[in-house]
Formats: sequence, C-alpha cells, structure tokens
Amino acid sequence: MWKYIAGTVVVGSVTYGLYRYFAGGVCKCTARLDGLVVVITGGNSGIGKALAVELAQRGATLVLACRDVEKGINAKKDILLSLNNKNVKIFVKRLDLASVSSILKFSESLKCEFSEIYALVNNAGIFYHPHTVTEDGYEITFQTNYLGHFILTHNLLTLLKKADHSRIVNVTSEAHRLVNVYDLNAITKSQTEFRSHLVAYGVTKLALILFTRYLFKKLSNTNIIVNAANPGNVETSLFRYFPFLSNKFLYGLQWPIRQIVVKSPRQGAQTILHCLLTSNRTTGQYYSDCKLSLPSPLALDDKLAKDYYELTLEILGDRFSTESEC
Ligand SMILES: NC(=O)c1ccc[n+]([C@@H]2O[C@H](COP(=O)([O-])OP(=O)(O)OC[C@H]3O[C@@H](n4cnc5c(N)ncnc54)[C@H](OP(=O)(O)O)[C@@H]3O)[C@@H](O)[C@H]2O)c1
Repeated sequence: MWKYIAGTVVVGSVTYGLYRYFAGGVCKCTARLDGLVVVITGGNSGIGKALAVELAQRGATLVLACRDVEKGINAKKDILLSLNNKNVKIFVKRLDLASVSSILKFSESLKCEFSEIYALVNNAGIFYHPHTVTEDGYEITFQTNYLGHFILTHNLLTLLKKADHSRIVNVTSEAHRLVNVYDLNAITKSQTEFRSHLVAYGVTKLALILFTRYLFKKLSNTNIIVNAANPGNVETSLFRYFPFLSNKFLYGLQWPIRQIVVKSPRQGAQTILHCLLTSNRTTGQYYSDCKLSLPSPLALDDKLAKDYYELTLEILGDRFSTESEC
C-alpha cells in the first residue's frame, strides 16, 4: 500500500515539475498601460489573443489586426467577457499581411484614427502553409511572417515616434536556428525556393531577428525600443497544416504528453508581455522565457542584418512605400 502511495507521489511530483519547467517564465512586471495603444497582428487567436487579454487587464487600448474581421469581433467579445473593467477599448481592423495594399490601407486608417501608438506586436504568422504565391508575387510564408511585418513596421514608425516611449516586439521562434545563410538567401525578386516548409518558416523567423537587430540601430536616436520574443512551444492553431498535429489520430496519441510539455497560449504570451512592460530599456535583443537570451550565431551577425535589410528593400522595390496622407 505505502509503495503505491510513494509511487503516486513521486510520479505526480515529477509530472508537476516537468509541467512547471515547460510552462516557462512568467512576466512579473506590474506596469500598467492605461489608455496606451497597442497594435497586435493576429490578435484574434492563440498567443495574440492571450496577449490581448493580459494587456486589456492592464488598461491598454487594443487594435486587433486580423485578416478575418469576424474572427476578430468574436475574439473581442471573448476578451471583454474575461475582463472586470468593461471600459477597455478594443478596435478590430482588417489586415492581411499577404497583401501589400491591405497593409497600406490598415496603416492609413491607424494614422487617421490615432495620434500615437505605444506598441506594435508583430505576432501574426503561418507555419507549414502549402506553397502559394501571394497577389504581390512572394512566397506566402515569407510575406506573411516577414515582408508584411517589415512594411507594416515602417508604415507605423511615425505613430510610434509620437509616443513618449514606444516598443516594437517581433514574435519569432527557436526555429530560426534550423536554417543557414544559404537558406536565408534562397530568395530572388520573383520567387522563393526553400528546401522545405520548415525551412521557409525558419527563414522568416531568422529574418525577423536580423530585422530587429538592424532596426534598433536605425532607431537609436528615437524613443522606440525593439526586441524579438520567442514564445516557446505553444498549443495553438499555428499547426493546422502540420501533418503530425493536424491529423486527429496522431494528435490524440501525443495529447497526454503535450499537456505537460507544451505551453498554453497565456503562458506563450508571457515573454512578449515582458518585452512590452519591462522597465529595462535594452533594445535589439532576443528574449525567451521572459529573459534576455542568445539567438543563433547567424542572428548576431550585424553585417548580415544590414545586408538582409538592404536585400529586403531590393526585393520589395516599388512596393515599399511609407508615404501617406490622412
Ligand atoms: N505556437 C507555437 O508553438 C509558436 C512557437 C514559436 C513561435 N510562434 C509564433 O507565434 C505567433 C502567433 O502564433 P500562434 O501560435 O498564436 O498561432 P495562431 O493561433 O495560428 O495565430 C496566428 C495568427 O496569425 C494570423 N494570420 C495568419 N496569416 C495572416 C495574414 N496573412 N494576415 C494577418 N494575420 C494573419 C492568424 O489569423 P487567422 O486566425 O485568420 O488564421 C492568427 O490570428 C506566430 O508568429 C508564430 O510563428 C508560435
């Protein structure tokens, strides 16, 4: 009898220890963002939606930038239901990162409605998406995760600069370690030839860290700090195209272990939240589990960051425009 009790206690403690370990860091910052405007791309689901709840609890005014406005309106209802303070302002706006014209329209409407923005969270993303070329002629994962955010960020810099202090958080991934410099440069003006879906995703996440690194230098004489945040392995709909998880049978087999080793969206949002709230004004860095972390050596290469920024401008050509009228 005692053997069974002792066994249960040991197994329970180990399981709980593993759960706590994989849950990662928790943001301990107590700062509030009352009335400050935070724009979250892909704020209607997963990590973006969980982050929206955390920020709304701290009084922020939110702009949920969603490609599907109906999903955004449903997310807004859920977020408001979870709050005690129903006076929090949440705006749902259409943004399709796979369309340059949608990005420009979205940016224009923000410039007309807000005088300043406290933060931009470049969170939206796709993974393992079937190979498709966007209306602008770019590979879809590359445009959604990287190019789209690159354009959006530049278009919102004017509003970010108007705030006393402002922040940009680029949501990246440990998958950035899976790619090499050849993968990174496997793009030409008109096409992208990645080795695999995983590499396509890894390239976009490495490109976002390099962008973070270059942008921080460009913005060094401004009030904007920019960092990259890795949310960790999180249970979300990101894996809808990933064969091992989109298949119900295979998912069912992994389910018990995933309950322990995979974060909830709320846990996944913690590092981004930390980047938005911390009083530490370190910029150009990579955060993981609410701490400064080291990305891959490639992601620390300043010359590569500069070259890739210039290559991105070349790839975008005439599509890159930050001019606007209200
Ligand atoms: N989950 C993880 O384990 C994990 C790990 C590392 C990094 N990340 C990163 O975390 C971020 C959030 O992902 P998630 O896990 O929360 O997945 P998710 O629940 O699928 O959220 C992704 C969001 O991006 C939006 N989106 C996709 N394509 C878009 C487009 N063309 N224009 C505008 N929005 C678009 C989605 O909109 P719809 O709802 O309309 O599809 C959704 O709101 C991503 O950047 C992802 O790469 C996730």
